[in-house]
Amino acid sequence: MSVSYAAVGWNRQKKLYDWLILGFCIVYLAVFIGLTALYNPQYTFETALIRSSATLALLLLHVILCIGPLCRINKKFLPLLYNRRHLGVTMFTIALVHGSFSIFQFHALGNVNPFISLFTSNTQFNSLSQFPFQSLGFLALIIFFLMAVTSHDFWLHNLSPKLWKTLHMFVYLAYFLIIMHVMLGVLQFETHPMYVVMLGLGAGTIITLHLIAGVKEVKKDQQSFDLSSQGFNYICELSDIEDNRAKIFCIDKERIAVYKFENKLYAIHNVCKHQGGPLGEGKIIDGCITCPWHGYQYLPGNGQSPPPFKEKVSTYDVRVEGTKIWLNPTPYAEGTERPGASFYL
Ligand code: HEM
Ligand code: FES
Repeated sequence: MSVSYAAVGWNRQKKLYDWLILGFCIVYLAVFIGLTALYNPQYTFETALIRSSATLALLLLHVILCIGPLCRINKKFLPLLYNRRHLGVTMFTIALVHGSFSIFQFHALGNVNPFISLFTSNTQFNSLSQFPFQSLGFLALIIFFLMAVTSHDFWLHNLSPKLWKTLHMFVYLAYFLIIMHVMLGVLQFETHPMYVVMLGLGAGTIITLHLIAGVKEVKKDQQSFDLSSQGFNYICELSDIEDNRAKIFCIDKERIAVYKFENKLYAIHNVCKHQGGPLGEGKIIDGCITCPWHGYQYLPGNGQSPPPFKEKVSTYDVRVEGTKIWLNPTPYAEGTERPGASFYL
């Protein structure tokens, strides 16, 4: 599917989310800087900007890391997932403001190159209380930079989805670096326990959500099926699948999405060709199975993207007996037309 592919049904929402993100960031920075001027007039504007942008970037990073597991736990969060790349680029831009002003304020006024000063002005790497925490922030910023510049579909196509995904997994390393940056840095000056409590709450939320989502996925994968009747496995009742939606079944370690559309059931491989999105978590839009991540589309009957696009996924046979749905996990070649299974209620 080409880079310019845009058959997505959520474009209006996407714009709305972009405006909401922008509005929230402006209000956050203005309120933070205003309150600093009011209650701590001894701080310069630069210090207020460094702190407001730092805390805002950290807050957005937490939101970004919570979106993935939240979507696995409840589909209502999917519109947030669709907009996550924009949130990531916004977070990087704000972190860049923080990093640039910090380098300017703490390293640009001497006669040493600011970037050399960043790594050489403090070399107490073996001291916890005096650790050169700024270098950790710098490394995290480099990771965010790489993620932001490769976030466009152009890079996804050129780097391959697997490499792209691997690169984006580095966000967890960046998160760890930032936690250490804040713990070893701010806590050198601020001894109030509130900072540790807030960091702990943030990390605790992210870890808990990932654990809940992980357990849910494992349960889904371990569901056992009655491997009888002509290679077909009983998977669920007709009423378990909503109209224009799917349920995902994992048989022999393969995830298959079974869709209900216009009184028929169709089964296709669950993995989107674009970036591996879960097709079974999407919905039917304009007669096509639409990936929840970025809107790539596939025809339910043959797993092919509508012309002129060329993506194809495997299809499978489904049967309905009474109210019971049976699925044969043997895949047909990608793009093979299958009749689907009619049902009458
Ligand atoms: C070039 C990269 C960076 C440098 C040089 C840097 C430098 C600093 C400095 C000097 C402080 C202490 C500021 C103060 O207390 O007045 C600080 C605090 C902080 N930094 Fe960074 N930083 C960098 C990157 C980042 C990134 C990428 C993030 C996160 C997304 C981040 C998040 C924070 C946070 C949350 C604080 C605590 C803010 C506060 O004082 O309330 N930093 N950083
Ligand atoms: S559209 Fe991007 S992963 Fe499916």
